[in-house]
Amino acid sequence: MIDLFESCMLGGTVSLKNRIVMAPMTRTRTSDGDVPNAMMASYYAQRASTGLIVSEAVDVAQSSNGYAMTPGIYTEAQRQGWRLVADQVHRHGGTIFAQLWHVGRMAHPSLLPNGEAPWGVSDKRADSEVFAHDADGKLGHIPAGTPRQLGTCLLYTSPSPRD
Ligand SMILES: Cc1cc2nc3c(=O)[nH]c(=O)nc-3n(C[C@H](O)[C@H](O)[C@H](O)COP(=O)(O)O)c2cc1C
Repeated sequence: MIDLFESCMLGGTVSLKNRIVMAPMTRTRTSDGDVPNAMMASYYAQRASTGLIVSEAVDVAQSSNGYAMTPGIYTEAQRQGWRLVADQVHRHGGTIFAQLWHVGRMAHPSLLPNGEAPWGVSDKRADSEVFAHDADGKLGHIPAGTPRQLGTCLLYTSPSPRD
């Protein structure tokens, strides 16, 4: 029988000290600019006894922001924030993966740069609500915005990791 507290290999490359995995949970705790902060580093470090932490969902671009105060990983400040989190988790003997997401049409213009409409695979608005805020504070749960339809081909260009 497999012991929950036995170590294992994940994908043949990552060694986990046990088989307990923390599920991703959005906590909406970022600092200005959706930057991971010291409170988040403590939160994850406190859970480093699990074999693997899967981080809360992390925005890959400004256009992917679907909830107020959720972290990104597309600016230098955000990368430094995650460095702090990962260092704390490693210091406590843990392993952490980032859960990357782009929310597509599940967003509201108040969360997006210059109040732009979210992107979607069609121009149909999601029949759902998002947690949004503006400069004056929280708007709470409000209907998702009407999306701009993506073209047939979307190209992302980003610097090579070696740059
Ligand atoms: C407060 C909260 C935040 C969550 N945030 C995320 C998230 O960022 N990404 C995700 O994939 N799931 C998220 N979830 C879903 C949990 O990961 C999920 O509930 C967990 O895997 C348990 O699965 P179950 O609800 O099917 O039992 C969240 C759940 C809660 C309660």
